[in-house]
Amino acid sequence: MRNPVMLSAGILGLSAPLLRRVYESGAGAVVTKSIGSRPRSGHPNPTVVAVDCGLLNSMGLPNPGVDEFSEEVRSLKRWGVTVVASIFGEEAEEYVEVAEKLSEAGADALEINCSCPNVREVGLLGQDPGMVEEVTRAVKGAVDVPVFTKLTPNVTRIGEVARAAERGGADGVTAINTLRAMAVDVETCRPILSNVTGGLSGPAIKPVALRCVWEVAESVEIPVIGCGGILTWRDAVEFLLCGASAVQVGTAIMYRGLGVFQEIIQGIEAYLRRKGFGGVEEVVGRAHGAA
Ligand code: SIN
Repeated sequence: MRNPVMLSAGILGLSAPLLRRVYESGAGAVVTKSIGSRPRSGHPNPTVVAVDCGLLNSMGLPNPGVDEFSEEVRSLKRWGVTVVASIFGEEAEEYVEVAEKLSEAGADALEINCSCPNVREVGLLGQDPGMVEEVTRAVKGAVDVPVFTKLTPNVTRIGEVARAAERGGADGVTAINTLRAMAVDVETCRPILSNVTGGLSGPAIKPVALRCVWEVAESVEIPVIGCGGILTWRDAVEFLLCGASAVQVGTAIMYRGLGVFQEIIQGIEAYLRRKGFGGVEEVVGRAHGAA
C-alpha cells in the first residue's frame, strides 16, 4: 500500500467508479462492500440511521453476487487501484468460492467478513473461534493473496478469536466491525431499523475499538488493521500506538467528506516529523512498551 490509511468495508464499496474516487482521494487501499456467492437484496428500509456520535446500519449484506462484482474488481485493477475484496458466506465452502473468484479477478488481498452483526449466520460464525479458524484456513488454502480476518467486538474475549484467525493462517486481522445497537422512534413508538438492531460505527465506538486493538495486538504476532470511529489523524495515531499497522476509515466520510484521507495522511506525516519518528513502524504498538 502507498500509505496505511484504507477505506473500510461497507462505505461507497459497491461500484468500481466510486471506489476509484476514494482511491484517488488518497486512500492507501480500498476495501469493497462484502460480497457473497449470490445476489442478495439485504434488509428492507429503513437500513441506516444517523444517531448521536455515529451511524447505525442494518443493511443485511446487500450485494450483486460474486460473478457480477468480479467485473468491478477487474475495472479497479485496470485503473491501478489497490483493492481488498471483503467476502462473506454462511459456511467455509461459500467463502472459498467467493475468495477464488475475486482473487482470480485481481483483488490484491481478501478480508473475511465473519463479523456482520446484521445477518445471524455470519455474525454467529465470527463469535466461534473454531469456525473463524476453519473459515480462515479454508480461504487461505484456496488463494495466493494475503488474507485478513475481520473481527467482531461482540464477544467477551476478542484476543481468543484473533488467535483462532492466526492459527488458521491469516496474514492479518482487522479490528473491529460494528457494535450491536439499536435506535427507537418516540413518535411511532417502534424501533427505527426494520431489522430492529444494527451495527454502530463512528466516534461512539472509538474507545471500544482501541481497547480491542490493544487486546488483539497483545494476543497475536500477525499485523492488526485498526478500524472504528477514526475521524482525525490523532485518532489514527492512537490506533497505531495501540498496535495497528494500518487503519481503516469509513463513517468519517459522512462527517468530513473524501478529503478526510488526505487530512489524516498529512496529519500522520506531520506528527512523525514533530516527534522525530523515522516512520509509522516506529509508532506501531509503542503504547504497549511504554506502559
Ligand atoms: C451489513 O451489510 O449489514 C453490514 C455489514 C457488516 O457490518 O459486516
